[in-house]
Amino acid sequence: MSNLSNVNPKHIDLLTAALRSPSAHNAQPWKIKPLADQVTYELHYDHNDYLPEDPDDRDAYLTMGAFAENLELEAPNYGFKTDITPVFTRNGEDMYIAKVTISEDPNPVKGILNEWVPRRVTNRNHYTKQPLTQELIEKLQEYNNVLIEPIKLKKIVMEASMLSWANPRFVHDLAVWYRSSLDAPDGFSSKLMNISPLATLLIKFAFWRGHFKSKLLQRLYSTRDVSMFTAAPMAAVLTAKDMKPETLFEAGRNLLRSWVVINALGYSYHPFSIAIDEKLTAPKVAAVANVAVPVALYRVGVAKKAPEVHSNRKTLESVLI
Ligand SMILES: Cc1cc2nc3c(=O)[nH]c(=O)nc-3n(C[C@H](O)[C@H](O)[C@H](O)COP(=O)(O)O)c2cc1C
Repeated sequence: MSNLSNVNPKHIDLLTAALRSPSAHNAQPWKIKPLADQVTYELHYDHNDYLPEDPDDRDAYLTMGAFAENLELEAPNYGFKTDITPVFTRNGEDMYIAKVTISEDPNPVKGILNEWVPRRVTNRNHYTKQPLTQELIEKLQEYNNVLIEPIKLKKIVMEASMLSWANPRFVHDLAVWYRSSLDAPDGFSSKLMNISPLATLLIKFAFWRGHFKSKLLQRLYSTRDVSMFTAAPMAAVLTAKDMKPETLFEAGRNLLRSWVVINALGYSYHPFSIAIDEKLTAPKVAAVANVAVPVALYRVGVAKKAPEVHSNRKTLESVLI
């Protein structure tokens, strides 16, 4: 018998829609455990083999917070509402993140975030210089973002990118989640990352060597990323008060809301996590943005075109416990 039969059939479409949530490296580390009452689900995070170059589990908790928010925003689209209670207990490699109760809502109230959450997407194309509207700026500030001109972070992003390519753990993570097939249910392909055949060859060389030892190669690879970053009209630093799991989970919810509102107002979003991931550059981002704890960095702007391919997702059945 399929383990889908443990899920309340009325919830299948909603839970499937929630799987469109973003995750670092498109790793989709979430696991969902349906309980016998048919309305409650445990949301777990599988720590095993996830992202070795995420030692503080920052990306992991952000991803799980984004997932919870994605689920909550999708609920009214299917005639439901959710009640999400953070838990955070750990048992070996398994982290029980939150308890989610789904209940029917005959009169769901839907706003722009509910309408746009299914269309949220990462856009890694070039952005125009069209400035952000005041409405978008205010929304992003409301969700704990500090906005900053990308040029102010140029050196730091270059340093972070070069350090990343020199770092065997970073390259190992990429190699683990890199997929040659466009049909793979998780991970990312060159097409998805919008990188040229030449850049793909270089990446494969890095996978083979374990890292880019030569500064020239590090710089070569980083320059395109940095020029894309600085060409955007704005960068946003998502902030939090500390790095506790529950704080990062809340920040993940803000990350998702920021992303959806950016897309809803006609703009695009592209994360640049490296500058926060690198221990040497994260404090520099904090200093330039004048924030205590930066937890995510992204560029925001009007993209010149839509993404050519869309990321895939695992099936609901495969993420059920
Ligand atoms: C916490 C987090 C960190 C991410 N960091 C990066 C990043 O540094 N660079 C990047 O290109 N995409 C990054 N992404 C985007 C994911 O790769 C993307 O969400 C995933 O591939 C699914 O694609 P989609 O967002 O288009 O649905 C990040 C996403 C999350 C949630």
